[in-house]
Amino acid sequence: MSLIEISHLRKEYPNVTPLKDVNATVDEGEVISIIGPSGTGKSTLIRCLNRLETPTSGEILVDGVNMCDPATDLSKMRQKMGMVFQNYALFGHKLVVENLMMAPMDLLGLSKQEAYDQALDLLDKVGLRDKALSWPHELSGGQRQRVAIARGLAMRPKILLFDEPTSALDPQMVSEVLSVITGLAEQGLTMLVVTHEMRFARDASSRVFYMDRGELWEAGPPEQIFEHPVRQETHDFIFRVRSWEWDVDTLAPDFHAMEASLVAYCQRQFMGRHAANACLLIVEEAVGNQLLPYARAHGVTDPNIHVTFYAGEGGVDMVMDVDCRTVLSAGVGEAPGVHDMDQLSLSLITAHCERWELLEPGLVRLYVR
Ligand SMILES: Nc1ncnc2c1ncn2[C@@H]1O[C@H](COP(=O)(O)OP(=O)(O)OP(=O)(O)O)[C@@H](O)[C@H]1O
Ligand SMILES: [Mg+2]
Repeated sequence: MSLIEISHLRKEYPNVTPLKDVNATVDEGEVISIIGPSGTGKSTLIRCLNRLETPTSGEILVDGVNMCDPATDLSKMRQKMGMVFQNYALFGHKLVVENLMMAPMDLLGLSKQEAYDQALDLLDKVGLRDKALSWPHELSGGQRQRVAIARGLAMRPKILLFDEPTSALDPQMVSEVLSVITGLAEQGLTMLVVTHEMRFARDASSRVFYMDRGELWEAGPPEQIFEHPVRQETHDFIFRVRSWEWDVDTLAPDFHAMEASLVAYCQRQFMGRHAANACLLIVEEAVGNQLLPYARAHGVTDPNIHVTFYAGEGGVDMVMDVDCRTVLSAGVGEAPGVHDMDQLSLSLITAHCERWELLEPGLVRLYVR
């Protein structure tokens, strides 16, 4: 028997049905990342699991106990199943160590000394023993979230549920929290993590659940979901979250912001400097030196250029789509050179692209070297 068994789970609100018919099992020791577009029921699923929400129909068995049965002792079940939210929700008027002691004393019956000793051990585990006597407001967001995880562990749960545990954090704090979660995975705790950190989902989970429109659309090991998704929707979502996009809707776009965002993207994809520079040059050349002057010359004030860049990790398979249909439509017939992307091809393709394709007039696909 699996540790968690979900069958035909449905949750309806008056105007929306965030969960239509979800079926899944989770075995002990598994780490499940739940990914998917916004509003597709990920949080609702997590909240139904520990019965913060009451499902409309269906069944959830946790360790053989039916969570939907009115006779089930929910507070006892919630002790087995900790939850870590996006916004850490620590008690601000309690010291860090006290935050970790209260529930175990109240609910597990630990003595003050036992609760204190356990709290220090757990703080050690999340690398924050020296913050035991600090107030929550004295900690960084990442540290607070690590305390929140330690507090979840203080109840000695079998299962830990996370709802976007890093989404309120600055990028540099994300990795410290994720490495704590990864450490827990290595110790065999069963975890379900709603996340938009695709790297974590790929590297730290045993399986990934892709949710879409209230259903568990595709579930499988990370290699399947990220490299060989079975369903088109999964493929499109993965592509979208792994790609970089930039919209140019003015004649004087902020190239510094564009550069910062593209460089950050390239770092996330573990691309070398050379590849990152090539992309920067292409965008600057295509947009700054070709398309915007063309737009100005043709009186286009709302250029509406859309650049999408996709790179596999390490900078393989780099593809850039430049959509400048609105710009070119201003001068169709007048400037066949630009229309055909000939200038672009001459100045860039030879230097930085293997080849290029015109998907339709004004929509060019470049295969970056
Ligand atoms: N208490 C509620 N009452 C009414 N509708 C709700 C309630 N909670 C969630 N919903 C709706 O259910 C749908 C799914 O919401 P949910 O929070 O589960 O999405 P999500 O996948 O977690 O999205 P996100 O990635 O943005 O967090 C949304 O349309 C949301 O507006
Ligand atoms: Mg959510």
